Amino acid sequence: MELRTDSFCSNPAMRTQWFVVADVADVADSPVGVTLLGTRFVLWRSPDGSLRAAHDRCPHREAPLSDGTVAGGCLVCPYHAWAFDADGACVAVPSSGPGAMIPSSAHLAMLAVRELYGLVWLCPGTPDGEPPEIPQDRDPSFRRVTAGIDTWHASSTRMVDNFCDVAHFPYVHAGTIGADTDPVVAPITVKQLEPDFIGYEYTVDVHDEQANIVRQRMSTAFHLPFVVRSNTCFESGPRLGHDRVLLLCATPIDDVTSMFTFVSWRNHDHDLSSEEFIAFDRAIGAEDKTMLERIEGVLPLEQSATVSVRSDRLSVEWRRRLAALLAN
Ligand code: FES
Ligand SMILES: [Fe+2]
Repeated sequence: MELRTDSFCSNPAMRTQWFVVADVADVADSPVGVTLLGTRFVLWRSPDGSLRAAHDRCPHREAPLSDGTVAGGCLVCPYHAWAFDADGACVAVPSSGPGAMIPSSAHLAMLAVRELYGLVWLCPGTPDGEPPEIPQDRDPSFRRVTAGIDTWHASSTRMVDNFCDVAHFPYVHAGTIGADTDPVVAPITVKQLEPDFIGYEYTVDVHDEQANIVRQRMSTAFHLPFVVRSNTCFESGPRLGHDRVLLLCATPIDDVTSMFTFVSWRNHDHDLSSEEFIAFDRAIGAEDKTMLERIEGVLPLEQSATVSVRSDRLSVEWRRRLAALLAN
């Protein structure tokens, strides 16, 4: 089967995967519309506070339900006020009068949704597994900070390739972590690091916020399709012996536009505010965004379409596995 990489969003395998679509704080009393894989979805909260998700299309005349309201424990369409309960059942058609028969085709098909790491994860089809496990989230010595969601005019394929890559640090990140770092990337051994992550371990000297050069033992790993986590253990400097976990998620709004989300966990600097916590990471993300928004289109998943060298080994493995997922 020929692999179409120019439109991975339309590949059915994508609909079995989990994607970050919102910050949990953004889904409160009103329905919220999100676009994932070129399709609109609506998120809302049921009376018990749990998240609900469905296609953002009223079965009556296709009005966007995300423009409606949540009232009386139901999602209410803005057009003719049909009301849908927490299970998606249509329970009111005002024009038919009370007690009238409601056709079963008026019910909404509910989609799989999870609240995890302060984020809303949505799977638009039948999920193949669960979102990736970050064990530090259950460790009370770690503090989690969710940095919100930004839109990048870049393909999620290019973002994950970038998240897997340290060879760009001295150039793209010269203004933050990359100044004076060694441009030579040590040979990479890719392996299954944790049940949910495949990656490699390495040691790197990078600049911290105070421009100190700090030795960090790191591991960077991916989870299909578009999640990367980077663990850091500080081996010198003021955070010696402490750890940081960074979760980087790309969500395809369409093939060439994405949401960028990052969450961090740290067992140090508990006196800092969340804003101080993430300001430096935001600056790093902004450097990658500027670079990637200059590169058009989807990263070709055929390995022969671009040239890879030894520092690209993790990205090559991620591309190989993503291509296999899409070919299934
Ligand atoms: S389009 Fe939703 S109630 Fe008519
Ligand atoms: Fe980067």
